[in-house]
Amino acid sequence: MQKLSSLTLPWPTDWAALFGVERPLIVEIGFGYGQFLLHLARAHPDASIIGLEIANRCLSHVEAQIERRGFTNARVIHSTAETALHHLFQPASIGQIHINFPDPWFKKRHGHRRLMQRDTLDVMVNRLAPGGMLYLATDILEYAEMSADLLAATPGLDNTLEKPWAAALPGRALTRYEGKAARAGRACYYFACRRNHLPPPFIAPVKELDMPHLVIKSALTLDTIYEAFTPGQHQTGGIYISFLYIYRSRNVLLLEVYVKEPTIDQHVAFLLSERAPNEFSLRLSTLGHPRPTPGLHAAAGLLGEWLMSLHPGAEIIKQAVKD
Ligand SMILES: C[S@@+](CC[C@H](N)C(=O)[O-])C[C@H]1O[C@@H](n2cnc3c(N)ncnc32)[C@H](O)[C@@H]1O
Repeated sequence: MQKLSSLTLPWPTDWAALFGVERPLIVEIGFGYGQFLLHLARAHPDASIIGLEIANRCLSHVEAQIERRGFTNARVIHSTAETALHHLFQPASIGQIHINFPDPWFKKRHGHRRLMQRDTLDVMVNRLAPGGMLYLATDILEYAEMSADLLAATPGLDNTLEKPWAAALPGRALTRYEGKAARAGRACYYFACRRNHLPPPFIAPVKELDMPHLVIKSALTLDTIYEAFTPGQHQTGGIYISFLYIYRSRNVLLLEVYVKEPTIDQHVAFLLSERAPNEFSLRLSTLGHPRPTPGLHAAAGLLGEWLMSLHPGAEIIKQAVKD
C-alpha cells in the first residue's frame, strides 16, 4: 500500500479518485493503534474511512492491519489533523469526524498545541457536510469542560445530547486508550454534535504557489557564504522561520530550514549552487517533500536578502519569490 501524507497528497485531495469510488467520508483524528478505525471500516462498508495520525509506529501498525483484513474502504494518512483538515478536505465534504482521547497530557497552559481549540474547531465545522456529526471522547474532566464551553459557542454545531456530554454512548466501540481508562476506573465524557445549516466559519483557501527560485550575481564564493552563515529565527505575518544549519558539498550549499505557518509545519532544505562564475541559484531541494506555500516563499525571500547583504555589489537577476 502506498504511504500517504499531507505533504505528498494533492491539495485538496480527490478522495473518490484515491478510493476509486465516490462515498461519504468518515475521518478519525489521532487513531493511535486503530481499534476504533478498524471498527469504523467494518461498520461502514459504504463509506471511505480516513485516519489522521502523527505517530509513525501507529501508522505502520494500522496500515498493516488494514491490509491484513483486506479493508479497501480505509486509508491512514501521516498528518496533523490541522494540516489535513485545511489542505486535504473541501468545505462541506465530511460526513463524520471522530476524536478519541486527544491531548492526554492536557494542561491549560498548553492551549496552542491542543486539538480542541477555536481555529481547529472552525475548520472542522467548515469541512463537515450539513447533517454531519462530530464525536469527541475524553477522560479528562477539565478537557470535557473546556470542550463543552467551546462547542456551546459554536453556532454551526447542535448538541444532540440532553446534557453537554454523556457518560456513555450506546453501541460505541472501545478504543485502546478508553480500555485503559476503564481498567484504571476513570470516567469518560462523550460529545456528539450535528452540523446544522447555519453558514460555516470562513476558512481562508490554501494557496499553493510555484516553487520559489532566485538567481543572484555576487562576487562571493560558496566558501565565504558558508562561513558567513549563522542560525537565526524570524517571525513575519504569522509565519515563523528558523534557519538551522548549513552544509557544504563540492558545488552546493544546503540550508536546512524550518517553517511554521498557521496550517502547516515544513522542515525543508534550500540549495545554493554556483551556476556560472559569480552567479548563484537558490532553489528548494526535494528533501522533505516541500510544498510551495507562502511561508517557503518568505524563507526564500529572507535568504535572498541575507545573500544580498553579504556583498555591496550583489544583484538579483531573477526572482520568482512571492511577497
Ligand atoms: C491518547 S492517544 C489516543 C489514541 C486513540 N484515539 C485511542 O483512543 O486509543 C492520542 C493520539 O492522537 C495522536 N495525535 C496527537 N496530536 C495529533 C494531531 N494534531 N493530529 C493527529 N493526531 C494527533 C497521537 O499521536 C496519539 O496517537
